[in-house]
Amino acid sequence: MPTVNFLLPDGTEQALDVPVGWSLMEAARRDGIEGIIAECGGGAICGTCHIHVQKEWLDKLEAPGMSEAALLEIVPESSHTSRLACQVIMTDCLAGMCVRVPSEQLTL
Ligand code: FES
Repeated sequence: MPTVNFLLPDGTEQALDVPVGWSLMEAARRDGIEGIIAECGGGAICGTCHIHVQKEWLDKLEAPGMSEAALLEIVPESSHTSRLACQVIMTDCLAGMCVRVPSEQLTL
């Protein structure tokens, strides 16, 4: 099963097994990754699953949809590496990807 490395706000790292077809948010919630709140359950409407994807992995991802792109403009610590974890769906090509959890999520 492919693994994704989550760099946490406290500087520690956690490797998660992510089944192909799952979103990174689902795996993060399953494994209790602090900082991935996922208030809306994956609907791309809350912005509380914001992550930063390491640059070398960004072009392997589908482009953000309209709802995701709009949220990424208003999340704290937004940057060109920002994505919503609920919209990043695991594939074998993403095995070994590294993402960083920001220290703050959007509050509604
Ligand atoms: Fe709400 Fe990702 S879980 S935007």
